[in-house]
Amino acid sequence: MKKIRISLICALAAMALATACCNKEGEAATSDSTQNGIAALDMKPVAERTNMGAKIFVTPQPALMIGTYDENGNPDVMMAAWGGQCDNNQVCFRLSPHRTTTNLRATKEFTLSYATQRDVAESDYFGTVSANDVPDKIAQTGFTVTKSQNINAPIIDQYPLTMECRVVEIIEREGDGCFVIGEVVNTIADPSILTDGRIDLDKLQPIVFDASIPSYRSVGGVVGGAWDAGKKFIK
Ligand SMILES: Cc1cc2nc3c(=O)[nH]c(=O)nc-3n(C[C@H](O)[C@H](O)[C@H](O)COP(=O)(O)O)c2cc1C
Repeated sequence: MKKIRISLICALAAMALATACCNKEGEAATSDSTQNGIAALDMKPVAERTNMGAKIFVTPQPALMIGTYDENGNPDVMMAAWGGQCDNNQVCFRLSPHRTTTNLRATKEFTLSYATQRDVAESDYFGTVSANDVPDKIAQTGFTVTKSQNINAPIIDQYPLTMECRVVEIIEREGDGCFVIGEVVNTIADPSILTDGRIDLDKLQPIVFDASIPSYRSVGGVVGGAWDAGKKFIK
């Protein structure tokens, strides 16, 4: 049963992430005659719509920050937009061979925080520069870390919402990084982003990644209740 569940998660993760990923993060999907070795179909246009070819556009992508320690206890954090929630308490990511990826393979534990409107520059820097080149990249921004009491991973003090996670599985993609599935074991929140004990997005002010421009965007207000707005059509 456990095997079937894990296979299912893998299949879903692979599907979701393969869809969300282009060959490498930051590269746009192409509309060449072949994509990933699959011949393009002769697509018929729909009236008054523009055919854009095999262009993926699943939006918005999250701007999540993965915090890890290396084998010597040096902290690192990187931005990850090619991933998200893939089960009730699990997250999945597609990772290229970064310092973070090496760290994850070694420690099997990580923190996951939200980049917010207050830290756009720092978070973008963490997604641009590697700890392989700048070992103290976190300190370069003035950000600080505290070791988690639950796992072997750093909590970035300036991020108000952090999930503490353990690696459940790493699915290798030959020559092209891997998919990482992680389980959330605990979540810690700064009281300033809570309302009545719930995480309040208006207070958290998370940013999301827009691959189209590319840029970071804020999250807008509530426009309807989930599992509620459509009730008027239920007979
Ligand atoms: C907007 C944005 C999204 C990114 N998403 C991912 C991602 O999903 N997977 C990945 O492997 N790298 C992603 N990156 C790249 C890493 O964050 C970047 O290479 C980082 O410098 C790696 O740091 P490290 O080597 O210290 O781990 C992203 C970068 C940016 C700016």
